[in-house]
Amino acid sequence: MKALPKMSKGATSSKLKKAIDTHLEQTKEHVNRLEEVFEILDLKPQAKKCDAMEGLIEEAQSILEDTDSDTIKRDAGIIIASQKVEHYEIASYGSLVSVAKLMGLSEAEKILSKTLDEEKKTDALLTKLAESEINEEASSE
Ligand SMILES: [Fe+2]
Repeated sequence: MKALPKMSKGATSSKLKKAIDTHLEQTKEHVNRLEEVFEILDLKPQAKKCDAMEGLIEEAQSILEDTDSDTIKRDAGIIIASQKVEHYEIASYGSLVSVAKLMGLSEAEKILSKTLDEEKKTDALLTKLAESEINEEASSE
């Protein structure tokens, strides 16, 4: 995802930077997995603009513009924007897993479930970072 490197660079907390960088690596693998699913379906993948994701990325960009660098407030904003993206991805992959299951496409279901699981884990990690330290630090900044 294009927005992730900017979010990582904009983050102050080393834990947040690490979480974003780890997920950036996972996201590259998610693309490979989608290509695998297309292969299973004997379909050619085609790039298609996603208006919803573009809107979420614009929102993330405006958080970076509206907050000062090296602040935990910016980190709190980055987490909020990132979780919106993760929730959108969870909804998308969750639906795809359900459809694959319904269609009896067990290999596709397995591949998509791996990605869904990583999206959920990233979301949970972001919640943990926000609730265990970043939101409180941001409120006293
Ligand atoms: Fe993600």
